[in-house]
Amino acid sequence: MKLHDLLIVGAGLAGMRAALACPSHLDVALISKVHPVRSHSVAAQGGINAALGENDSWEAHAFDTTKGGLYLGDQDAIERMCREAPSDIHDLERMGVIFSRDAQGRIAQRPFGGAGFPRTCYAADRTGHAILHALYEQLMKRRFLVYEEWYVTALIVEDGACRGVVAWDLLHGGLHAIGAKAVVLATGGSGRAFLTSTNAVINTGDGMALAYRAGAPLEDMEFVQFHPTTLKDTGILITEGARGEGGYLLNTYGDRFMKRYAPEQMELATRSTVSLAIGQEILEGRGVDGCVLLDLRHLGRQRILERLPQIRQLAIEFAGIDPVESPIPVRPGAHYQMGGIRTSIWRETGIPGLFAAGECACVSVHGANRLGGNSLLEAVVFGRRTGQRAAEYTRSVVPRAVSDVTMKGERARITQLLANQDRPRPWQLREELGTTMSLNLGIFRTQQSMQEALATVRSLKLRAPGVTVADKGSVYNSELIQALEMTALADLAETIVAAALAREESRGAHYRADYPIRDDTGWLKHTLARRTDDGPALSYEPVRITWFTPK
Ligand code: FUM
Repeated sequence: MKLHDLLIVGAGLAGMRAALACPSHLDVALISKVHPVRSHSVAAQGGINAALGENDSWEAHAFDTTKGGLYLGDQDAIERMCREAPSDIHDLERMGVIFSRDAQGRIAQRPFGGAGFPRTCYAADRTGHAILHALYEQLMKRRFLVYEEWYVTALIVEDGACRGVVAWDLLHGGLHAIGAKAVVLATGGSGRAFLTSTNAVINTGDGMALAYRAGAPLEDMEFVQFHPTTLKDTGILITEGARGEGGYLLNTYGDRFMKRYAPEQMELATRSTVSLAIGQEILEGRGVDGCVLLDLRHLGRQRILERLPQIRQLAIEFAGIDPVESPIPVRPGAHYQMGGIRTSIWRETGIPGLFAAGECACVSVHGANRLGGNSLLEAVVFGRRTGQRAAEYTRSVVPRAVSDVTMKGERARITQLLANQDRPRPWQLREELGTTMSLNLGIFRTQQSMQEALATVRSLKLRAPGVTVADKGSVYNSELIQALEMTALADLAETIVAAALAREESRGAHYRADYPIRDDTGWLKHTLARRTDDGPALSYEPVRITWFTPK
């Protein structure tokens, strides 16, 4: 069995940043189900926040983040992120990220929702692309080993510590055990539990499911962010940067309806406010074919081409609309999981040797509603911190052999999947899951809608191991991976629904029509979901409040 000092599962922004933070003498490898530059971080558009401006401060950034998250974020973690943001941005610049510039040649910053200051650094509307490629260059420069197109099916946890993974080699077929003194999970989000989502089809919450099955608790899973502006029919992200540059939202009467919901911030209110407003307009018959309109025409062709070239191209190619000439039809779509594997501010998960970073993890900086531009930042700042701490941890670990128990279990699971006949295919279950989650756990939730979702999710969880994988081969069997992904999605969806049903209040992205009021007395607390054979067991933990008293 191959043995590394550190194995990082996922090679997006958080995973690569963790690797680059490790000293060069360590044997660090990455493993990813896609080529690293196909990781979903590449799709991030609008930018990354840092208080760089002379009149801005980390305290103001921390306040906006706390308030935007409806005070559910842990303020010690928020402080770390906002304090360390400027130096991490400059590190990125030194690594070669081509940020857009202002007239003075400084890194340009645009306004984003819920921010009291224009503090979102960007590279046109391809910020994730710019950062991911620069990090990949650094990865290549240091010659890290990357297991490209390998899917991790289980963590090896023995004697209470994580000692490696079992993974399927997509290209050649076959299961392998890979040992490591420490493992970092950096596998991204789980947006594909929903039908309408900005997420790539690879975002199936694999890392969260791996940790959950290994006994780590998931935190605040009920908080799924709906991005207000996704393209009609496809759900492709239309960046908040479009509103940051001055775009308007209009209903069918040509009315800038945000003046009724957030008269001061208008289109740059926080995401949950804008999504709820759009949902309300559509619900009350003032939408346009299930959408509202995002109007950029007044920005002019030149500014659109310079600042928003990608979303223009996406609107042309996927909706047949040129935003220079016509408004874009948009509606809210699942975008980001604020919850995830609970971690400390050094990203320990509670299982020795297991760390987590990026969207799959929850250090709780986003609370109940993430500010745009804080996800790339969280991945970069806490990715670095994860790498630093995991590297330090490996120094104290004496390598040892692992048993073949996990391997045997995974081999049996895959053999069974390949043997199944005459059952639904993985995509059919995935569609059923997405439909119920989008319908019943969208921007508006009620006890009744969530109970309907729970019944469907539980039935899917039972049926997922029995799907038919029609491709019986082992080489590049993408349907086998879809079947494994479906089991992860079903586990996670159950935690989302169970946590949401239990939380009898409305806060940020969790809006319950039957409990419309935020309740700090009863619910200013984190939900923890632990796996049991009967489904998730929920418990609660206090929020860490240091600077800002909830208002
Ligand atoms: O709208 C956007 O560009 C998305 C940014 C984010 O989610 O941080």
